[in-house]
Amino acid sequence: MNIIGISASRREWGNTDILVRQALKGAAREGAQTRFLRLTDFKIDQCRECLVCLFKDKDCVIKDQLPTLLKVLREADAVVLGSPIHILFAAGAIGNLVPRLFRQGYTGEFRKKPGMAITVGGRPGWEGWALQQVMIFFLSLGMPIVDQFTGYAQGPGEIFFDTDACGRAFNGGQAMAAGETTYIGTPGTCPVCHCDLVFEHGDGRILCVMCDMPGKLQQKGKTFRFKPRSGATSRWDPKNNRAHFEKLILPSKKGFKSRKEEIRQKLEIFRKGENYE
Ligand SMILES: Cc1cc2nc3c(=O)[nH]c(=O)nc-3n(C[C@H](O)[C@H](O)[C@H](O)COP(=O)(O)O)c2cc1C
Repeated sequence: MNIIGISASRREWGNTDILVRQALKGAAREGAQTRFLRLTDFKIDQCRECLVCLFKDKDCVIKDQLPTLLKVLREADAVVLGSPIHILFAAGAIGNLVPRLFRQGYTGEFRKKPGMAITVGGRPGWEGWALQQVMIFFLSLGMPIVDQFTGYAQGPGEIFFDTDACGRAFNGGQAMAAGETTYIGTPGTCPVCHCDLVFEHGDGRILCVMCDMPGKLQQKGKTFRFKPRSGATSRWDPKNNRAHFEKLILPSKKGFKSRKEEIRQKLEIFRKGENYE
């Protein structure tokens, strides 16, 4: 068993590095080989949206260090990914990485590898949607989530005082090394993705934003839980994910091609500052 831990913090030996390494310690306790990486040590640029990776079924055209990271992911049996929270967002490196793995989301090559998502914030109440952003790395690749949580610490190293987070990281790493592939964390609002982003869309529809599943909110004691409608499946379900690529994204090439000349003409007028309608 080969488990990699990736920290998206720029702060070396900061709180995210420590929690990710703590997960690797748990994995090592179970006999796994572990490797720690810092995402910002890799040059990974932003996706250029050329879609060559999908339309031509080719490696990404950007010449940077994504192939090195892909090799590491291919060699791994399980992945821990951690990020600091920055103004309610995950670190920018996560934002660059996830779209660059669009093709792997379609091919499903990482689908069997379990993962754990970790974020670190300075204080409760300021989590925003950073953990969900890290979760999208795993969900978009179809990887099963073993745990996902936020630890709290402001100054570098203060995470040692968040014993809950340190314990949870260790346990998650240990469980993954023992072959766990199902969710062992505390239940989230959504029973499928375990995230807490349930939304009323202004027309009475209640959806889990992450899963795009309709359902309803049910009160359970002091909390609310999202109950997906019977038969509803997540957008990340392999069948739905495949359909998204094959019925929407891949056919969009033909539609775009048919309008390309019209767009070129509109753009020419638009760039001259004239009314293009
Ligand atoms: C620019 C900046 C923005 C931050 N924004 C948030 C925030 O929105 N929510 C939060 O809980 N913590 C926030 N923090 C605190 C960090 O998440 C916290 O210090 C964390 O421990 C950093 O992890 P690291 O040591 O791994 O880099 C912010 C820190 C910085 C520097």
